[in-house]
Amino acid sequence: MNDTATQPIFLKDYQEPHHWVRDVHLTFLLAPTATRVRSRITFVPNPQNPGDLELNGEDLRLLSVAVNGNDVPYEVTDTGLTIPAHALGEGDITFEAEVEIAPQENTALEGLYMSNGMYCTQCEAEGFRKITYYPDRPDVMGVFTVRIESDLPVLLSNGNPTQKGAGWAEWHDPWPKPAYLFALVAGDLVNHADTFTTKSGKAVDLNIWVRPGDEDKCAFGMEALKKSMTWDEDVYGREYDLDIFNIVAVDDFNMGAMENKGLNIFNSSCVLASPETSTDANFERIEGIIAHEYFHNWTGNRITCRDWFQLCLKEGLTVYRDQMFSGDMRSHPVKRIEEVLALRARQFREDNGPLAHPVRPESFVEINNFYTATVYEKGAEVIGMLRRVVGDEAYYKALDLYFDRHDGEAATIEDWLKVFEDTTGRDLAQFKQWYSQSGTPRLSVEETWDDGALTLFFSQETPATPSQTEKKPQVIPITVGLIGPNGDEVVPTTVLEMTEAEQSFTFENLGARPVASILRDFSAPVILNRHIDAPTRAFLLAHDTDPFQKWEMGRMLARDTLVAMIVDGTPPAATYLDAIRDVVVDDDLDPAFRALVLGLPSEDDIAQKLVDEGHTPDPQAIHDNRNELRRIRTDHLADILPALFDSMKTGAFVPDAEGSGKRSLRLAVLSMLTLIDGGAAARAAFAAADNMTEQAGSLRSLLLADMGQDALVAFEKQWKHDRLVMDKWFGMQVAYASPEKTAQIAQTLTQHPDFTMKNPNRFRAVFGALAGNHAGFHHESGAGYALLAKHLIELDKLNPQTAARMASAFETWRRYDPTRQDKMRAELARIGATKGLSRDMTEMVTRMLG
Ligand code: ARG
Ligand code: ZN
Repeated sequence: MNDTATQPIFLKDYQEPHHWVRDVHLTFLLAPTATRVRSRITFVPNPQNPGDLELNGEDLRLLSVAVNGNDVPYEVTDTGLTIPAHALGEGDITFEAEVEIAPQENTALEGLYMSNGMYCTQCEAEGFRKITYYPDRPDVMGVFTVRIESDLPVLLSNGNPTQKGAGWAEWHDPWPKPAYLFALVAGDLVNHADTFTTKSGKAVDLNIWVRPGDEDKCAFGMEALKKSMTWDEDVYGREYDLDIFNIVAVDDFNMGAMENKGLNIFNSSCVLASPETSTDANFERIEGIIAHEYFHNWTGNRITCRDWFQLCLKEGLTVYRDQMFSGDMRSHPVKRIEEVLALRARQFREDNGPLAHPVRPESFVEINNFYTATVYEKGAEVIGMLRRVVGDEAYYKALDLYFDRHDGEAATIEDWLKVFEDTTGRDLAQFKQWYSQSGTPRLSVEETWDDGALTLFFSQETPATPSQTEKKPQVIPITVGLIGPNGDEVVPTTVLEMTEAEQSFTFENLGARPVASILRDFSAPVILNRHIDAPTRAFLLAHDTDPFQKWEMGRMLARDTLVAMIVDGTPPAATYLDAIRDVVVDDDLDPAFRALVLGLPSEDDIAQKLVDEGHTPDPQAIHDNRNELRRIRTDHLADILPALFDSMKTGAFVPDAEGSGKRSLRLAVLSMLTLIDGGAAARAAFAAADNMTEQAGSLRSLLLADMGQDALVAFEKQWKHDRLVMDKWFGMQVAYASPEKTAQIAQTLTQHPDFTMKNPNRFRAVFGALAGNHAGFHHESGAGYALLAKHLIELDKLNPQTAARMASAFETWRRYDPTRQDKMRAELARIGATKGLSRDMTEMVTRMLG
């Protein structure tokens, strides 16, 4: 890696380009190892910043260049092509070039590559420069016309189809766009077709393109797409703006999916669905991702980002929108709890370690390393807070202004906040710190009761994070409600707006001392430190009207129980066990909610909590105690489990909120039953399963009880032809392995004939599961660390983006005892010392060791 490649670039150094683009004509002559790309681009000099014509380009074989039809002097480097200003003449420039690329050899899956004989592209963030020379930056937007020549039957690009003939097709996208939204697909594909009529009466053709054989797995995705289109019209007033909307499923894909204008490309795992092969969680995720990519058409495509530091402008907002959509389609309380679980598991973990960065980073070496939980999920939380602070009405007014004012532009976070300031008259300078300050605020609360008045004293503090030692107080919307001693709500939810380091709020004229329910609906992404006793938590678990807080109290009881078991061997109190039992038997509660209450904090969560309390986590002890608590709870509930298991049986599989809620409670119960019935119920459920939720869920129960061998064999036999189902097979046996066997099982799976480093889903199935099996990955032998490091080094040569992403498994290394720290640091150092390491991985390792 040469020095310039690892130099950071800074937000503060942003400059407009020397040239804007008007239109782009591309011709692709597709061939696996020698694709020709001809370009004709009209550049318009930028009077604000005159200079050379600067184009990015990597791994391109340059065949010809001309400006206005003539030869010109130019300089080509590993990263681009520059034509000196003096050679450009006056006025607009017609630039023409021809390059050759080899999609077949592109294992990084960035730019134009091949997957199972099909051509496809992934250009965000900086992949277009691997297709041709171009100003590959999001503030440069052009109108694209694309001609594809290939014998493959289906040839797709952005926008609307214009003409086609034997062996060729042309597409025109009337909406100016940055190069990262470019897409091309060519393959032997079949489509699931439908149509949608927009509110204003425009007919849109919809297609989901898949490999032959997958046609029967498109119907659910298509429904999700139509629901998304309707929802964006109804809730945000946004219509679709082309004649056609295409989705393509690709097996080899680095991320979930990509919002290319009019031609979304999906990891096949995020679009293909059938009851037999997909779990309820898969269905829910597919619905959310289809919505996410569709919603990008307005928040991302019509209004894009000025530069990559503004990534949260499109991602935070689009995640927020897809979360609201999923809540509307399913259950808001359940969705909110799932969001918080994911936020804590991924974003809080990131914010507490060496990879912490602001929602809007100030510098980066490789932008692909910043498609993070902080940018996406914390970015969405910030929008939720903004909405809470200004209110619903002002939120939608501000959004209308945002779309009016910035349509067709490449915008910034400043632009975004300004529309809120202009609609509300508020000063959002302090609020803006949510974009610039990294780290998770710790919010502490104490209370006093004085003659009918309850006062809550809050204080906030954000711990230091890399390159940010001084932290300022944030604006924290704290939602509070009060529950009277008889269990009735006496003060409904109100939003307290905290802006100081310390601030108190008083509720007056109260009859008897109520119990406060604080941070309802998780109104801010903070860690709340509140010392209340177990009976008070149990009281809120029983009576809180806010479903999030109700769940949270059960979770806090479980967490405190586990911490006490681990730290000083205190056995679980009856308060906790009885409170859980009361919820589980309460038929008035949504089964999905009851299943969530039964869930225990993850081992990683407990490790982080122990660190917060000044202990050094012992992964094996966490694992053993958590299992012990599972056993104790099972004994406490044993008499009700069989009947509850039977009563949650569903009929014909419908992947809706109701069915999935029942199945999740049924399977949570099954995993307990398996601890006491020798696996009989799980084996029977596995054998009888007619849907993947039940099949995978019963297999999971068996694996967790170390009784899964026969089921694994049967599962493989049944599904060996199905890549997506086999990913589950690879993943589950690692995810649920006992600690001492985890690394060995993962290692053995890499020898399986169906294991391949070239398919990111398969690699993630094994190694994501290894990293996610806390006690297994952190087993004292160090075998988990060594195995992951070895494979990351190998993968980095093929696919730096996915390798670097998975390296974050090591981000928590400072949490553990000196022996584990040494082992993890040594593996990081070993990765870092690898010759020819990618820029992606170099940056990740440097930050983690830094
Ligand atoms: N914009 C895509 C999405 O969130 C993700 C693209 C990720 N690309 C990357 N290079 N990391 O919908
Ligand atoms: Zn996105």
